[in-house]
Amino acid sequence: MTESSNYTRLYTRTVVDHFWNPRNMGSMDEPSGVGRAINRACSDVVRLFIKVEDGVITASQFQAQGCVACVAAASMTTELVVGRPVDEGEVQKSEVIEALGGLPEKKVECSLIAPNALREALADYTARQEG
Ligand code: FES
Repeated sequence: MTESSNYTRLYTRTVVDHFWNPRNMGSMDEPSGVGRAINRACSDVVRLFIKVEDGVITASQFQAQGCVACVAAASMTTELVVGRPVDEGEVQKSEVIEALGGLPEKKVECSLIAPNALREALADYTARQEG
């Protein structure tokens, strides 16, 4: 049995695709906001960057140390957030899971890390504007 067929049994095709071909992976030069979140159960972590221009999130990148669900959810979160007004920038857990076509119940917690990192990035953006 190949490694990828193990993943395919547990995860949707979309999850597997976003894990093997993550969108927007890597750090960002001169981000407008940066956030970091951790899954306390396993200590896996996501760092998420946003670029904001004229009140709209125009780009997002992420770095992750995590499992298949964590990486796929981070990739999907960066896709979902681009184009949103910054004051409506939060991505809900349910949006990520739906966009991924579902996740095994035991992996739902892993999908929260990226939306939480995004929330921190939005807060960082706001703090920079106020500072
Ligand atoms: Fe750590 Fe999934 S096992 S994020």
